[in-house]
Amino acid sequence: MFGDGGTLERLQDVDQHLLHKLKDIGIGSISDLATTTPPELLEDYYSNYDDATRGIDFETISHLVLKAKQKLIEDGLIQRDFSSAEKMLERRQKMAKFSTGSESFDSFLGGGIETQALTEIAGEFGSGKSQLCYTLCVTANMSSKEDNGIIYVDTENSFKAERIHQIAESRGLDSEEILKRINICKIYYSAHLEAVIRSLARYIEQYRARLVIIDSIISLHRAEFAGRETLAERQQRLNALLHRLRRLSEIYNIAIVYTNQVQAQPDSFLGNGFDSMRAAGGNIMGHASTYRVFLRKMGHNRIATMLDSPYHAYSQVKFTIGEEGIQDLEKKDGKTLAGGSECGW
Ligand SMILES: Nc1ncnc2c1ncn2[C@@H]1O[C@H](COP(=O)(O)OP(=O)(O)OP(=O)(O)O)[C@@H](O)[C@H]1O
Ligand SMILES: [Mg+2]
Repeated sequence: MFGDGGTLERLQDVDQHLLHKLKDIGIGSISDLATTTPPELLEDYYSNYDDATRGIDFETISHLVLKAKQKLIEDGLIQRDFSSAEKMLERRQKMAKFSTGSESFDSFLGGGIETQALTEIAGEFGSGKSQLCYTLCVTANMSSKEDNGIIYVDTENSFKAERIHQIAESRGLDSEEILKRINICKIYYSAHLEAVIRSLARYIEQYRARLVIIDSIISLHRAEFAGRETLAERQQRLNALLHRLRRLSEIYNIAIVYTNQVQAQPDSFLGNGFDSMRAAGGNIMGHASTYRVFLRKMGHNRIATMLDSPYHAYSQVKFTIGEEGIQDLEKKDGKTLAGGSECGW
């Protein structure tokens, strides 16, 4: 079985010359091709080739993307356009959940951070977004020895390996083993982030990842597309990025967690404590995320609010941050929680 659908050569009746060009623009596997959209692909294609080498149109590209999707369906990696609700439930049962490090936070989430989903962690500076990402790196207890990689995309140049080491050691876990399975990708500009996400299928395969973290998803786009006149383009780019992440989370049965910044919302009062702030990125971010969790500081502790979810009611949970990373306000029996568990649905 090909986890990424295999190489493009598996596609029959396709011009080899065209396949070469796709590889040149970073489309190396069938899932790279299937998780792209024809307009995206065409844009990349045209921006990489001059007029003399073009000769490709929307119809050819659409046909090719469809062919790649059909191959993934044949391989059982994605579902047919129509599938029974029973089959969907079967797929949901393959879902895994990764612990946040705090039992109460996990039960607030219904068991932990899910695969086949995008989880957005929004909050102001120091609210614990990165600490949650670090703790997840440690507690995401992969039951499979092979598929236990983590991809950590760091767009803020803030990743701290020593903090992960500390969290692992405080939980009595083998920090070396944990650090070995985390693959960090540092990103400095938005086009770089977009390129990495476009090739993410390959990296997921290469590192056998079950968890992808992006800390943060929006900071580079926000900084680079600052003016009103570029807002539409920024939103369009973010939209493409998030849709690709959604497809990847489903195809590979992986958990994708990204952090988001907040922006001031001075003119409203919702009466729920985070009236003056809202998650950045507007409706596009709001609609793309499966779960939206908002973190707030509360003295030395933190409070998480579920803003949006297909399964959870509006709810809140308190937690704290210590040497062990994210943890319960009161540790049960004075004992420290060790690594979290991965459990079925
Ligand atoms: N070793 C530690 N022990 C206890 N608390 C810690 C430790 N390290 C960090 N913290 C807590 O975590 C906070 C920082 O949280 P974090 O880095 O997750 O913020 P963030 O939400 O990612 O902010 P930003 O938007 O600036 O990236 C610190 O203010 C501190 O309260
Ligand atoms: Mg941070």
